[in-house]
Amino acid sequence: MTSTNGAPVSPPEAVEFPPKEIKKECDEIVARYPTRMAACLPVLHVAQRHFGGWVSPEVEAGVAEYLGVSDSHIRGLLTFYAMYNDKPAGRHEVWVCRTLTCWLLGAEKLRETALAKSGCEKPGMTSPDGKFLVKNMECLGLCEAAPAVFVDGKPHVNVSNEQLEKLMDACE
Ligand code: FES
Repeated sequence: MTSTNGAPVSPPEAVEFPPKEIKKECDEIVARYPTRMAACLPVLHVAQRHFGGWVSPEVEAGVAEYLGVSDSHIRGLLTFYAMYNDKPAGRHEVWVCRTLTCWLLGAEKLRETALAKSGCEKPGMTSPDGKFLVKNMECLGLCEAAPAVFVDGKPHVNVSNEQLEKLMDACE
């Protein structure tokens, strides 16, 4: 592995995973699947929740070791699925759907509202005060009641700009 200037860098030191607070939950998830690899996605959800809303390279390495898969497999999942964060995230997440139905029904305006209210420079970035992470998401599966957003994992439909502002105001 090399850094951007070509100098060799060491792989991240794996954290002990799972820590005792989430060991039982992770072990139960693994027990439900035919292989340890099949449990990667739900275990990553638990890891992200436990480690402050994001998965660091050290946690990534710990999860890989626990599940007996390569670090690059975990990295691929983290960077493919938009619900995971591989950088420190805001305390609250606002997901704005950007797919066709929502876009036609005003999602662009919702995204502008979310960015302006949070202070996030652009989607995918955390606000300078660390309070919000605003993300563009593909179809959230709620097209019949577009536009749709998720705030901290809870769906909201037929959302107006005013409603989104209120939802964000309610975030501590
Ligand atoms: S297009 Fe937005 S929820 Fe499907």
